[in-house]
Amino acid sequence: MSYETLNVDQDGAVMTVAFNRPDKRNAINRQMHIEVQDVCLKLATDFETRVVIFTGEGACFSAGADTKEWGQPGPDNELELRYQSGIGSRSSNAIDALNQISIAAINGYAVGGGAVWAVCCDFRIGGEGAWFSIPEVELGIPLSWNALPRLAREVGHARALEMTVVCDRFDAQQALDWGLLTHVVPTGTELAAARELAAKITRHPPLPVALTKASMKAIKRQTEQGEVAYSDGDLLLYSRLLQQRARRRSKQSEA
Ligand code: COA
Repeated sequence: MSYETLNVDQDGAVMTVAFNRPDKRNAINRQMHIEVQDVCLKLATDFETRVVIFTGEGACFSAGADTKEWGQPGPDNELELRYQSGIGSRSSNAIDALNQISIAAINGYAVGGGAVWAVCCDFRIGGEGAWFSIPEVELGIPLSWNALPRLAREVGHARALEMTVVCDRFDAQQALDWGLLTHVVPTGTELAAARELAAKITRHPPLPVALTKASMKAIKRQTEQGEVAYSDGDLLLYSRLLQQRARRRSKQSEA
C-alpha cells in the first residue's frame, strides 16, 4: 500500500501505520483522513494482520487537525460541505471499528485530532516526555470527530470535560493517571514497546483474541449509546459558519 500522507509497514501479523507529514508535525489534512479510512477499509478484509500500530514520523504523533485547511471556503454545495464536515468523525469511526487490536505509539505529543485518533485505539503507549492538549474550544470550535463519548469512555466524564474546556497541556504522567495513556515508556521507545505488546498478543491464537476484541467493541458501544446519536460534524459546521460570519462582520465594521 502506497500513500501520500502515511507510511505503512507490514511485519508478519503486525502493521505499522505512521502519519507521514513530519514537516507539518503530522497535521491531519483531508488527504490523511481519506488515506486512514482507506487503510481501515482494507483491514476489514485482511485476515493476516492482527495488530495495527499507529504512530508518527518525526517529532510527534500528530499536531491535530490541519488548521491551514480551516480557512479554505469549501464547496458551494451545502450537502457536500456538510459531508466534508463529517470527515473527522468518519476516520475516527474507522479506526475505532477495526477488528484488529490497535495500538497508538505516541511519540512527542498528540494535540487535538491527534489525541482523538489515539483514543480510538485499544491501547495508548506514550513516551515519558510526551504531552497532550485538546485546544479546540480555545480555537473557537467544539471538539468533534465523535471524540467526546470516546474520551468520556476512557477517562470519565468530568476529566473529559476538563480536558476539552480548560484546554491545558498535560504530561504523560497525568495522561496515565487519567487513563488517556495505558503505558508510559522511556522516550524514544514507544514504537518498540508497541511492537513488544503486539508480539505478546500475536503469540495467542487468532480467534479468541478477535472474539474478545469484538465483545469489547460491543461493550464500548453500549457505553456510548445515545451520546453518539447526534452528529457533531454538524455542530462543527455550525461553529465554523458562525466564525466566518463574525469575521465578515468585523471586516465590515472596520471598512
Ligand atoms: N495544522 C497545520 N499545520 C501545522 C499544524 C496544524 N495543526 N501544526 C503545525 N503545523 C505546521 C506549521 O504551520 C509549520 O509549517 P511551516 O513550516 O510551513 O510554517 C510546521 O508545521 C512546523 O510547525 P512549528 O510550529 O514551527 O513546530 P514546533 O515544533 O515549533 O511546534 C506545535 C509544534 C505542535 C507545538 C505547534 O506547531 C502548534 O501549536 N501547532 C498547532 C496545534 C493545533 O492548534 N492543532 C489544532 C488542533 S485542533
